[in-house]
Amino acid sequence: MTIIVTGGAGFIGSHVVRRFVTNYPGYRIVNLDALTYAGNLENLRDIEQEPNYFFEKGNILDTGDLERIFSQYSPDGVIHLAAESHVDRSILSPLDFVYTNIIGTVNLLSVARKHWTGTKGKRFYHVSTDEVYGALGATGYFTEETKYDPHSPYSASKASSDHFVRAYGDTYQLPVIVTNCSNNYGPNHFPEKLIPLFINNIIEKKPLPVYGDGLYTRDWLFVKDHAVAIDLVFHKGKDFETYNIGGFNERKNIDLVKLLCKMMDEKMGNAPGTSEKLITYVKDRPGHDRRYAIDASKINKELGWKPSVTFEEGLSQTIDWYLQNTEWLKHVTSGEYQQYYQKQYQ
Ligand code: NAD
Ligand code: TYD
Repeated sequence: MTIIVTGGAGFIGSHVVRRFVTNYPGYRIVNLDALTYAGNLENLRDIEQEPNYFFEKGNILDTGDLERIFSQYSPDGVIHLAAESHVDRSILSPLDFVYTNIIGTVNLLSVARKHWTGTKGKRFYHVSTDEVYGALGATGYFTEETKYDPHSPYSASKASSDHFVRAYGDTYQLPVIVTNCSNNYGPNHFPEKLIPLFINNIIEKKPLPVYGDGLYTRDWLFVKDHAVAIDLVFHKGKDFETYNIGGFNERKNIDLVKLLCKMMDEKMGNAPGTSEKLITYVKDRPGHDRRYAIDASKINKELGWKPSVTFEEGLSQTIDWYLQNTEWLKHVTSGEYQQYYQKQYQ
């Protein structure tokens, strides 16, 4: 079995690659990644010497790269995570999201179709987000039947890519499968997203910019539990199905930030209340979705998946990882990050 994981040097992709390389020594795992600002091979240092791990620098916007890598490895499966993934960047530069998330996905689908026509037992697994469903009010959950209603350029581009994946399933019988997952957190998360940004800013004693009234709600899932779900769906999911994946763990941003401040103070030996003083309410994100919450009962009933760690356990492990990996933080926040940070927050 040979699997191409796209975006394997990114946050979630690196956890997926590690899990597959470690758990399936008989598989060949090919990490296909363009190494954008969000991709970092340091995320995979511990497994890069394994004989079943292969890295191929390649861009999903370049069909020449895809042809070369498909011809070289003849993959049985693709797990597609490569994407532009940050909502705030999609507001600054929507076209980057159209190119990578939509056109890049269609390129990958087309090359897979070409190489797999007339074969059996292949699988194209597209990793997507719950943000395609839009925003919830105070009650209710996103199910697999919820109508798509994306609001940000990021979620619109992911919604479009999901439609293309299903269209290749319907039109060409490409064996596709889609999962839509809630907000992940954990080690190797790029410090532009809420949790790692705030951890980094607490370490650097910088303001913690809470958008709007801070009462926006997200459903948080520890990244290693997402990797377990991806493993299960890849091996046991049904072709042409969709599975929603969520943490059963809703938090209002401000409650999460206060918990993070308290835990950071304890771990860093600060006086209680030190980090909370850094909280600064700032201008709201345009088109900000009020609440996301996933009904993950389908994957639970059909594949037996549920999260294994509580939010407090996952957050504690995450903070410990960042405190032990300040070199990684320094590295990824140098260069381009500084310009993004200035544009977004100054
Ligand atoms: P990330 O931004 O950390 O990583 C993206 C990776 O894709 C990077 O390694 C980058 O180098 C690579 N990449 C980007 N453009 C590429 C291109 N043109 N060609 C090849 N590689 C390219 O993203 P993430 O948070 O790990 O998310 C991975 C996937 O999971 C995305 O598709 C995202 O939409 C989806 N998702 C993320 C979350 C979340 O909370 N982070 C939740 C649900 C779904
Ligand atoms: P984020 O981590 O960007 O994920 P997403 O937008 O994909 O859900 O943001 C999570 C929540 O935190 C979202 O409601 C926006 C909010 N947020 C802030 O209040 N301040 C920030 O600096 C960031 C990055 C996010």
